Order: sequence, then C-alpha cells, then structure tokens
Amino acid sequence: MKKTVETKSPIRFDLTKREFLKTNLYVGFAAFLGSTGFYPKRTLGSSNPLKHFSFVQSNTLDTVTVPKEYTWQVVSLWGQPMFSKAKEFDHKTTGNAENQKLCVGDNNDGMAFFEKENRKLLVINNEYCNLSIMHHYNDGILTPDDITKNMFAHGITIIEVEETNGKWVLKKDSAYNRRITPETEMDIKGPAAGHDLLKTSYDSTGTKALGTWNNCGNGQTPWGSYLSCEENFNKYFSCSDKEQKLSVEQKRYGIKTKDAGYQWSKIHDRFDISKEPNEPNKVGYVVEIDPFNPLSTPKKRTALGRFKHENAELVLANDNRIVVYMGDDQRGEFLYKFISKNSYDSDKNADDLLDNGSLFVAKFENDGTGFWVELKPSNTGFNTKEEICIFTRLAASTVGATPMDRPEWVATNPLNTDVYVALTNNKNRGIKKNAGGDPMKVGGPNPREQNIYGQIIKIRPDLENHSSQTFRWEIFAMAGNPTVNQGSARRGSPNINAENIFNCPDGLKVSHNGFIWIQTDGNYSNSGDFKGMGNNQMLVANPETKEIRRFLVGPKECEVTGFAWSSDKKTMFVGIQHPGERGNSSFPEGKKDALPRSAVIAIKHKDNLEIG
Ligand code: FEO
Ligand code: CA
Ligand code: CA
Repeated sequence: MKKTVETKSPIRFDLTKREFLKTNLYVGFAAFLGSTGFYPKRTLGSSNPLKHFSFVQSNTLDTVTVPKEYTWQVVSLWGQPMFSKAKEFDHKTTGNAENQKLCVGDNNDGMAFFEKENRKLLVINNEYCNLSIMHHYNDGILTPDDITKNMFAHGITIIEVEETNGKWVLKKDSAYNRRITPETEMDIKGPAAGHDLLKTSYDSTGTKALGTWNNCGNGQTPWGSYLSCEENFNKYFSCSDKEQKLSVEQKRYGIKTKDAGYQWSKIHDRFDISKEPNEPNKVGYVVEIDPFNPLSTPKKRTALGRFKHENAELVLANDNRIVVYMGDDQRGEFLYKFISKNSYDSDKNADDLLDNGSLFVAKFENDGTGFWVELKPSNTGFNTKEEICIFTRLAASTVGATPMDRPEWVATNPLNTDVYVALTNNKNRGIKKNAGGDPMKVGGPNPREQNIYGQIIKIRPDLENHSSQTFRWEIFAMAGNPTVNQGSARRGSPNINAENIFNCPDGLKVSHNGFIWIQTDGNYSNSGDFKGMGNNQMLVANPETKEIRRFLVGPKECEVTGFAWSSDKKTMFVGIQHPGERGNSSFPEGKKDALPRSAVIAIKHKDNLEIG
C-alpha cells in the first residue's frame, strides 16, 4: 500500500502560491498548480471559445443570458406536441395522460444529437417532473389520469429537428419522433439477465423490464446508439405493508416504504415492494437505445452496474476496447469504469460490446495517484458476477472504494486522455458515513469538510490509455466564494474569482476543441455563502491555464443541464431544467399565468462561428 497523507480541515485556499507549495499537506493542490511537471502541454483545437465571447455577469433574471456575440432560441418545451393529433399545451390543465404521451417530456436532462443521411435527431432524457407545477390545479389528490400523466412525462423524448434560416424547429409527425416511458418494454442484457433477483410476476424470465425513469445524464456510442442513465429510480417505490422491513440492499439504494409523491404504486402493483420485491432490481442501469429505429427495443446493460447512474462517458482504449466512465450520484458513493472484453470494430456488430467486460471502481490516494479495482466474486464477497451487477454499491464498499462528494458527470477530452469529474457537493463530508457505513474522510479528491460548493477533478490514466488500471489525479477547480469566504477553504481554488463564481458543478462536457463546459445545479439564493452567484449557469474552462469564464445564466430556479452540438459545431443545444421549481418563474413565455416549462435551447454565434 502506498503511504497516505492525512489532511486536516479546514483547508486554506488563501495562501500565496509559495506558501501553497510549502504546505505539503495538499499534494493534490500542488498538482493543481502544475508543479509536478508530469502533465505535458497539449495542443488545443484551433477555435478558442474564450476568445469569442464577452464575459456574462451573474444575475437573477427570469430568462437566459448569453454573451452579446451569441443568440439563443427555444427548440423544444415540456408538453410540446410531437404529433398533429396532440393538443397544444394547456397552462390551466397541463393536459391529460394520453396527450402527454404524444408530447415532449418534462425536466429535460442529458441529450445527444444524431445525424444520418441529413436527418437530424435530438434524443433527450426527461428526468422527473415538478409535481407542484404539473398538478397545480389540485391539492395533491391525484387521479389515476394525473398519475399516468406524470409517469408519461418521464423517460426519453426522441425528436427530429431541422434548421431553417438559422432557426431550429421540431419536425412534428416525423417517423422518428418517439416517446419512451416507464411503460415501454425493454430487454435486460448482460451478466444479470435471467437472474432470479430480476424475476417478477409479469416476467418469469428475468430478461424483460417495463420502462425507464429518472433518466439523468447520457452517453453516446461510436455505433450510433444513445445511452440513457437511470439515476434516482428509488423514489418511485413504496410499500403497502407497513410491517415490512427493508433489506440491507434496499436501504443502500434508498428504497423507502413511504411514497415520495408520484403515487405510481396506487395504479401499478409493481411499484409496491411488498407485492413486487424484485421490481427495483430491474432499474438503476444504463439503457441503450437505437434512435434511428423507432421500433427498436431499448436494452438495459447490466454489465455497467446498478447504481444511481449520472452519465456514461464512452471512449475507446488504445486497443479499441470500450471504456465507459460512470459516476454514482449520492453522498459518499463511487466512481466506476467499465472495460469491454472485445474491441470495437466499425465493420462488426457491436451489440454485445456493452454486455461482456469488467467493472472497476476508483480508489484515490492522497498523493495524487489512484487505481481501479475490478469488482469480482473473489474480492467482493458476492458469489457471482450477476449479483455484483445488481448490488454494485455493496460490492464496491467491500473493496474499499473511495467515497466521493457526489460524482455527477464524467467528461473525457477528445484531444488526449484527460478525464474530468464533477463532484457536486457533500455537506456530510467529514461529518457522517455514507449509506453503506463507509466513512467519508476529508482528504484526497474530497478535501473539504462540509463541502457545500463542490469541485471538478482531473484524472489522467497512466500510459495515456483509458484501459490503464492506475492513474494520477489533481483538483482542476474547487468552487467557492472568495467574496464572502476569504481565509477559509470555502474561498475556492485560485482560478475562482469574483467574476466567475459558481457552486455545485454537475453537467460536464469537453468540446471537440478540448475546452471544458461546466453546468451547475446549485443553490440559487444569491445570498449568504452563495452571494453573487445568481441563478444556475454554464461556464467554459481552458484546460491548460485553468481559466474559467461564465458563458450563460439560466432563468430563475432552474438547473442548467445537458449539452449537444450540431454536426457542424455551429449550434450548441443546452438544457434548461425545472425553471420556477419554487413557483417564481414563467420561463420561457414570461406572461402572467404562464407555467414555467423545461426547455432545450439552441445557441448560435452571431457570425455563425463554431462553438466549443
Ligand atoms: Fe440527475 Fe445527479 O443529477
Ligand atoms: Ca445531474
Ligand atoms: Ca445535481
């Protein structure tokens, strides 16, 4: 074992560079300053986005703000008809369930752009719904149609889009338009398929599932499929038997006996764990979808593990094996990667690539190194690989994985092998244990006690190969607030200043030019520790200088989440999720009595330059 260096809290970020280097408590931060010299300089792409925009100031406006050189427009909205037979969105009633099924879902999150033979698709996750907005016309007493409506607002929306005279529109009635909901039939694939733990009264084979929900971040494969990640799937289950005790596994995944508000078990027994105890085992996976085949059956890829999947960042190793980086977004949960057994070959069928391979979990040392531990029966206490794929969190705890400050998106740089991870926050860091009883010690990539702001870390695989089992890491940015927290760890890292302050990094993507785009899902109170940060936002960072500049501010009470670029890189699609979640927005219509609606927007440079 390598010697670890214990850090003490609170860490100070207000040191001069010299003091900072002298204090060998913070090896990761020394690496932040580039002092170790093991990171060679890389060439960035030709178009430096930081040169093409004017700084955007934080604000609390109820609109989207982009740099003055750019424009934005709405492409799609919750409740927008995808077919002529659907009714237009009704702000008073929000429509009925059947209509919702023909319309764009709610709370868009991860998304991807696909183009084939000049047909262009946006595939968009619909993570959850804002019940108080969707059902604003009643007092929490939901009818079966209300419940079905909020179910149908979940899942995935596939829409064909086209750009005419610089404006993107949804093509109503396209043969590619499709809604995937919590009722869409799916195949369960990979090691766990057919296991007894996946058998239910409606599926005696353990190879079928009904639907997907709480689809958060995403991924994309080189063979043209979309990966959708099931995150907080637990919140949809409840239990009618009040005597029932939850199992260790159910507790670890956050299953509760009390309904969280969606009330799905009222109309479907499979969401009642006393009636269908294995139904929760059919969710918590990465789902693969072929967007250009509207009749295709989505596939749940169990080899990638079961946890609260944030996104699935897929890259090729040097020998063309598939590597998928994945975060498990909960306090003190882990960072994973999957490596396929076989290599990708564009001339061969890729259908089993995500079913055969090894699943690893990250262990970080405080000295800036780390390694990936393969989860196997021999080191996890589980008898079979199948069980590891179903109870992945418990297996990872057994091997001593590093509990992280809520891993959100992982992003890889297409110009080299750098990997970035958004660790959004963890108010319990240094205070409590995670849900599996693992201590959440202060140190390493999680260096700040009661971490309310979050950080972005950078990982470089050794040998510059994504299949390496060892890596080096450093802190890329420690979010904070230097205007109210000088002299404490809450100041943030040196690349955080009064002009670019943000909290809770979440969405993360590295553009084709190697610049890092950061989206936030944080505290938008604009007061106290968050004073001056305004609404949630999007920023862009230079990976070499670590300079960060604000590019966009979202409307009131929203989260900015999800990115996609058009094939020519001249349009950037961005997600505005849950504007007005506390009742204080009418985005995007801005009219009295208009409900706020989640939206996908398209951003373009006024001179039609590439973005990214
Ligand atoms: Fe759905 Fe972790 O964000
Ligand atoms: Ca997220
Ligand atoms: Ca988040």
